Amino acid sequence: MPSMSPSPAPLVAASARPLQGRVRVPGDKSISHRALMLGALAIGETTIDGLLEGDDVLATAAAMRAFGAIVTRTEPGRWRVRGVGVGGFLEPEDCIDFGNSGTGARLAMGLVASQAISVTFTGDASLRARPMGRILDPLRRMGVQVLARSKDRLPLTLKGPDITLPIEYRVPVPSARVKSAVLFAGLNTPGITTIIEPTPTRDHTERLLERFGAALEVDRNEDGERVVRLEGRRDLKAQPLVIPGDPSSAAFLIVAALLIDGSDLTIESMLLNPMRIGLIETLVEMGGAIEIDNRRTVGGEAVGDVRVRASRLRGVVVPAERAPSMIDEYPALAIAAAFAEGVTVMNGISELRLKESDRIAALAAGLGANGVTVEEGPESLAVTGGAARIGGGTVATRLDHRIAISFLVLGLAGHAPVTIDDSRAIDTHFPEFQALMNGLGAHFERAEPAAA
Ligand code: S3P
Repeated sequence: MPSMSPSPAPLVAASARPLQGRVRVPGDKSISHRALMLGALAIGETTIDGLLEGDDVLATAAAMRAFGAIVTRTEPGRWRVRGVGVGGFLEPEDCIDFGNSGTGARLAMGLVASQAISVTFTGDASLRARPMGRILDPLRRMGVQVLARSKDRLPLTLKGPDITLPIEYRVPVPSARVKSAVLFAGLNTPGITTIIEPTPTRDHTERLLERFGAALEVDRNEDGERVVRLEGRRDLKAQPLVIPGDPSSAAFLIVAALLIDGSDLTIESMLLNPMRIGLIETLVEMGGAIEIDNRRTVGGEAVGDVRVRASRLRGVVVPAERAPSMIDEYPALAIAAAFAEGVTVMNGISELRLKESDRIAALAAGLGANGVTVEEGPESLAVTGGAARIGGGTVATRLDHRIAISFLVLGLAGHAPVTIDDSRAIDTHFPEFQALMNGLGAHFERAEPAAA
């Protein structure tokens, strides 16, 4: 997989001209990982148009090759995957390095769990520090052997049994990755694997499984919980796929356009899956001028063009129930909140402590360093907006791409330049960010790494 350059790359963002015009953001990360993975198990050749080519997804492409699939890039964003058939993964020669990618590693654990092969997973310092127990618990119940360090952290080795057991699993915390890992394990498991989701999460796995012809049923039980049933050991059929723009990448442009006076920006072909647009709902409540045109369906997902105009925002209370539909967007929201009138309170966000960094702590520290008043709770963050002078600070990005980009946006909208200590993590998800913003007239300066 692509490796990061060895030394940190600090970057400075200073106040930007209005953002105007029409842009596209790269393909959705969640769908990109899943498209490669299901393509690798399907019979025939899956074509993927609009694949995100950040390091995280490239690590998944390399992993699928190591399992025996033929994965080729035919031109930028266009890929072909010739799969090995359900149950056909080969044991890889070497350990599989997922770099910074929590999603790649977790979903791949599900994929290999029902194959009688032994696979060792590793990753970068951020990924090796993140607990994997949540994914491993249900997989252990299906019969997988796990050899891991304490707290189930990487590097770890999985060895699937000859025949996995189908389970019924009530996902204990809202997590699309846990749900998806169990469903992926269910693909090569005889019988019916059942997931019960008390709180619904993004459903890209279910939508793609249906596209690939899996035997899948989605229902509600008498308690109103979402129930997904998958019959295993059925062939998947290769598909032509088109991946819409990633709303989690667009989030940064949307917030920047709301905050920079005179902006009028349209983001074309953005994914509008209802479980991914909690940020838009929140920003509209805050007074953001956001309109959606040209709504359509692309590859089984809702898509549209999102027009954003600079707006005066006011603080709101974001309810805990909204967290699953904007779980990755709180960093971008915290930046918007810094410029809103009044206080924005984000409740029920303890999950943010388990992402690429502890995002509640990283946001509190970064906002504090730039003159914004914040109050950090165990499961919440309150940001008081509208300080007289926002910016001027240096932010520790903690190998977290969303923290890095969020604070660049703070610098573009703020009163004084903002320095991030390291911009390298941006390439894991949104390598085009700088070029795309430069094209809109924003400007970033490289800075010297701080002396050790
Ligand atoms: C993802 C689900 C979310 C999200 C992550 C991607 C996915 O994580 O934060 O960036 O692709 O299913 P959890 O499932 O851990 O909440």
